[in-house]
Amino acid sequence: MDKLVIEGGVPLEGEIRISGAKNCALPLMAATLIAGGVHTFRNAPQLRDIRTMRNLLGNMGAKSEHDGLLRIDSSDIHNLEAPYELVKTMRASVLVLGPMLARHHRARVSLPGGCAIGARPINLHLKGLEQMGAEIRLDHGYVLARAGRLRGATISFDQVTVTGTENLMMAACLADGVTVMKNAACEPEVTALAEYLKSMGADIEGAGTPKITVRGVKELHPSECTVIPDRIEAGTYMVAAGITGGRLRLTGCNVCHVEAVIQKLTEAGLCIKADADAIEVAGQGEIRSVNIKTQPFPAFPTDMQAQFMALMTLGGGVSLITEQIFENRFMHVLELQRMGADISLEARTAVVRGVKKLSGAPVMATDLRASASLVLGALAAEGTTEIARIYHLDRGYEAIEQKLSAVGAKIMRVRE
Ligand code: EPU
Repeated sequence: MDKLVIEGGVPLEGEIRISGAKNCALPLMAATLIAGGVHTFRNAPQLRDIRTMRNLLGNMGAKSEHDGLLRIDSSDIHNLEAPYELVKTMRASVLVLGPMLARHHRARVSLPGGCAIGARPINLHLKGLEQMGAEIRLDHGYVLARAGRLRGATISFDQVTVTGTENLMMAACLADGVTVMKNAACEPEVTALAEYLKSMGADIEGAGTPKITVRGVKELHPSECTVIPDRIEAGTYMVAAGITGGRLRLTGCNVCHVEAVIQKLTEAGLCIKADADAIEVAGQGEIRSVNIKTQPFPAFPTDMQAQFMALMTLGGGVSLITEQIFENRFMHVLELQRMGADISLEARTAVVRGVKKLSGAPVMATDLRASASLVLGALAAEGTTEIARIYHLDRGYEAIEQKLSAVGAKIMRVRE
């Protein structure tokens, strides 16, 4: 297993280009199952999760290539199964359920099982599909679903769910009648998926708001689109500039998608200037301790909580970080403590008391964003940090060590 060795204390200076968003690319790839033919995506990141989704689709009969462009040919889908071996490594695999049911009328998808950040059930996906007329049962760890043509339905989500909204929106595209989703997720990745589905011939209104209306059509056709910039990658590098007291220019981002993060980082004392697709971030000495609560978009995202906590470990006072989306997303706390951070946990809130400095230590990555927070801590720490199990990082940060070295970080991947 590879590890990262980082020598901290270098202020980062220069420009980083933000990659396409994994959480946008994955649902787009699943959407290829709804219309046979060649789908083309620009700006899809080269990441482990993207390769896993290609394998999953390949297992079903799709052909794909990913050089500059990601092309997926879904003309010959013959195996309607998402096996445990793939689903357990990437929960987003469940996104194939809605499209398979809508177009192929049956699906066998492994239940994802445990996760490092919380229980993460898929009950709301299944309940919605049942409301649309699917018959669903659980068998030996698998969801077995079948349906004739799905029917439009009114679905009120008990809780905002991003992939749940995406799954049901895809399913509804080919349903008979109108589907109305209430309390739908408003994340930019949902809007991007709706735009792609519309370019395929779907009739969707309201994506980006809590009420989405989908009028079912008989069939869709393949199309092409550009994957939106990764707002979490952008936020992570903004923190990198702040925590090292450096100055970074991030290009290829969409500023509207990171407003809540920019606001909190500004309160924390970073100097941030944004134009339409570039953001300049500079750390300026003292980091101020501020509180955050994670919430669905457009509020502060859970996927930036761990990285923000890394910054707050060096704050001038006390910061309260409340995680409201996932019940167990604090695995990074113990590892940051190994680097000298002063953090205590009270239920869903981490109380972070700023310390003068972090010190390099051997630490272990436990999930994607936790890993990113350790990289950030390491960039600011005195001495050398070794981060083990970085395969988590490779799931979601394209070329992270190349991007960071190019702006001055002393970072090295050691292959074992
Ligand atoms: N939930 C349920 N039942 C469901 C679905 C969700 O109880 O059927 C709960 C979850 O357990 C959680 C909350 O609802 O407590 C929200 O979960 P959501 O369904 O929105 O999460 P997700 O769709 O599985 C996506 C991202 C995550 C991101 C969350 C929240 C993708 C592929 N994944 O997950 O991204 O944290 O939304 O914004 O889009 C990451 O990139 O590191 C990552 C984990």
